[in-house]
Amino acid sequence: MINVLFVCLGNICRSPMADGVFAHLVKEAGLAGQIKVDSAGTGGWHVGEPAHRGTRKVLAKHNIPYDGRARQFTKTDFDRFDYILTMDHSNFNDVMRMAPSDDATQGNDYAILSDGTEVSMFLRYGIEAGSVTTREVPDPYYDNKFDLVYDLVSTGAAELLRYIREKHAL
Ligand code: 4NP
Repeated sequence: MINVLFVCLGNICRSPMADGVFAHLVKEAGLAGQIKVDSAGTGGWHVGEPAHRGTRKVLAKHNIPYDGRARQFTKTDFDRFDYILTMDHSNFNDVMRMAPSDDATQGNDYAILSDGTEVSMFLRYGIEAGSVTTREVPDPYYDNKFDLVYDLVSTGAAELLRYIREKHAL
């Protein structure tokens, strides 16, 4: 099983959207038995809450089911997940501050931990493929641009799935 975790700040706007969209793509590709998907927030303010109304609305508009509840990212997630994808640099730095302090190969927007866990900016795969031009998923919590975030997240999710399929020969 390949375990994929999306991380943002509150786990109510961006990472639940990426979680829902990516899980939907995985299911459509017939890979639900091989790739498991979850999301978490670096902050704990919204733990136990459903996704933000804006995220639920945009997912529903695209016929993507989602019923996750917010939870906080913990150190044990480094053991449980193979890919940890962060929405912005602040999330990336917060996650990396909690990473086991053993040898990691690290660039600006990704790190490979000694056990092989890949921590990366979610949009890195889209940047490398040339299909997105921004490195961070902007936070719709502050400006309500959920449709714009959906477009970015769906492109990023497709590129991530392409990367994982290629890497694992799926
Ligand atoms: P998210 O958005 O990180 O995309 O879930 C936010 C949600 C809540 C807060 C900040 C960002 N907050 O400060 O409560």
